[in-house]
Amino acid sequence: MTPASERRWLRTPSDDRPARFAYGADYNPEQWPREVWKEDVRLMREAGVTVVSVAIFSWARLQPAEDRWDFGWLDEVLDLLHSNGIAVDLATATASPPPWLTTLHPEILPVTRTGETLSQGARQHWRPTSPVFREYALRLVEAMASRYADHPALVAWHISNELGCHNIYDYSDDAARAFRDWLRTRYGTLDELNRAWATSFWSQYYGEWEQIQPPRLAASHANPTQQLDFKRFSSDALKDYLRAERDVLRRITPDVPVTTNFMVMGETKGMNYPDWADEIDFVSNDHYTHPGPQRLDELSFSAALTHSIAHGNPWFLMEHSTSAVNWQTVNVAKTPGELARDSLLHVAHGADAVCFFQWRQSAAGAEKYHSAMVPHAGADSEVFRGVAALGRTLHELTPVTGSVRQPARAALVYDWDSWWAVERDSQPTSLLRYRQEALDWYSAFLALGVRVDVVTTAADLTGYDFVAAPVLHVVPKDLAGRLDAYVRGGGHLVTTYYSGVVDENDHVHLGGYPGALRELLGIRIEEFGPLLEDAEVRLDNGLTGTLWTDRIDLTDPEVTVLARYGTGDQAGRPALTRRVLADGGSASYVSTRLGTQLSGVLATLLDGAGVVSELPAGARGRVEATVRTDGSHAYWFLVNRTDESVAFDAVDGEALTGPAPDARGGLVLPAREVAVLRVEAGATPFGRDA
Ligand code: GAL
Repeated sequence: MTPASERRWLRTPSDDRPARFAYGADYNPEQWPREVWKEDVRLMREAGVTVVSVAIFSWARLQPAEDRWDFGWLDEVLDLLHSNGIAVDLATATASPPPWLTTLHPEILPVTRTGETLSQGARQHWRPTSPVFREYALRLVEAMASRYADHPALVAWHISNELGCHNIYDYSDDAARAFRDWLRTRYGTLDELNRAWATSFWSQYYGEWEQIQPPRLAASHANPTQQLDFKRFSSDALKDYLRAERDVLRRITPDVPVTTNFMVMGETKGMNYPDWADEIDFVSNDHYTHPGPQRLDELSFSAALTHSIAHGNPWFLMEHSTSAVNWQTVNVAKTPGELARDSLLHVAHGADAVCFFQWRQSAAGAEKYHSAMVPHAGADSEVFRGVAALGRTLHELTPVTGSVRQPARAALVYDWDSWWAVERDSQPTSLLRYRQEALDWYSAFLALGVRVDVVTTAADLTGYDFVAAPVLHVVPKDLAGRLDAYVRGGGHLVTTYYSGVVDENDHVHLGGYPGALRELLGIRIEEFGPLLEDAEVRLDNGLTGTLWTDRIDLTDPEVTVLARYGTGDQAGRPALTRRVLADGGSASYVSTRLGTQLSGVLATLLDGAGVVSELPAGARGRVEATVRTDGSHAYWFLVNRTDESVAFDAVDGEALTGPAPDARGGLVLPAREVAVLRVEAGATPFGRDA
């Protein structure tokens, strides 16, 4: 088998081709008559498409009945693509079981928390833990892998599709059995489980494993540790399924890299992707934006997180949209420039492939109003012209492929356990949204023009000068120790309300909040002070807090108060604190939600850490700067986040795409445009202007 390091990245059919961006889409030719296929490949070539994902939802066409297979049409599609120089990321086709299978085996259908069985007729209606589903699905994977193992168009395997998009939580009897097995592995004995789940509370003691169930609809709040473990289990169950498909593929085609499309975006939180990433050969992500003031921030945040999930290796943007989607309340079309800017922002954060859902907009079916590379209007359209222009831009960016995103000096910690824990029932407030909190901090970095990495708690923080860990609620002992060592080693940490409160079993660290981080921060909180939905508190530095307050006492002489509450129940008490240790590190605490006002506080804290923006003052907040490097060069992506042009006075570097510096070194970056400047590794284009 080819070593994992070489299977990481998708190769073009003939290996000696020069490096280039993969560019393309999901391609669903089974929705169209054959005449259209010829037109498709012609337009793909015109647009510079190099790769398409095929057969994602093709199970019913490939296996129309249990004992009938029909690969002829797919053979033809793959041959046609190959003869036109287009590579194929081939799906295992298991995403949507056909009606004959659910009719024959209704026991593969998922069951909701309230006990309803989901029906066939949409997609992804299968239980992750169903042995019956797995048997049929793996038979299909085996058939696909055997048939196409040597097809010259095949460059990668695409396992299923967005695992867990609709079926992450299944409460069926299959899930119950698998949950018990998972718990046996985690805890070994029932005594350990009873201890971890604190079953002395509400008479929940378990005497036999068989008594344990998933947290189905109950009379009141289900056991919180059971809920947290069910989330961990559900992510692991799908990971196990992913492995099962992968193992079949690796056995039959040991040299073909395997991926599956993650959904690092928005509120998609069921799948613990950092924990899945090592199961595949390269990370792929799907991303769709939501209209609103943080639209672009969220894209950038997701891309930065995907980069760290991919361990800094180039990753594959498997899906995004050319324009509107079909599944939001109002599906807004993209404005001119957004198609390319969105794509290039992913590239800026390490994507070496830019693909869309989908190639040709469906004429019928649930997604007919979802945009595509070829819209309903046809190739004579703004969208298709934008698609072809992006193909040319990616070609200009060829030298960037294979380079990696240059680490920032600051990091933002993102933690799935905390995400899961703080958004369950029975919390001090149900208004707290973990991802929104992290995103607000990310937006503050963007507003200041300071590059920041988004990392998980497993990351080595020692290389960072500054670490923000908002709402880091679940802090096991070893993490507390690492954060402590980070600050003692001279690092600068800021955390917020509801951090450090519980351990990995959701047991409170006693003695006062913020529990595991109490001594490091030099503060003690006796009681939380969450705020009612419309309530606000004023701080003595002019800021307004919402959502949360804390009743803070200072416990360490090294702590200074950066701001106090001016109004509300905590009036007069500290609101923002900073402990500066003798050896230079610091630990700061923000006890209320500041949302869009965070940038002022962050500026002070970054200043204390000596972290400054690399952008000229006039561009900060208006332009996002991201750097990729190949060791000899640095590629600076300057992304205009605004609807106005931004002017730079003195810029160095060779423009690979977008506007170039003029003879005097000035550069004007038009609204929504992106410039990519190549400079020597370690240099910045703003040497003379920052
Ligand atoms: C993804 C999915 C695609 C398509 C797309 C629409 O969730 O993988 O098949 O449905 O969304 O935005």
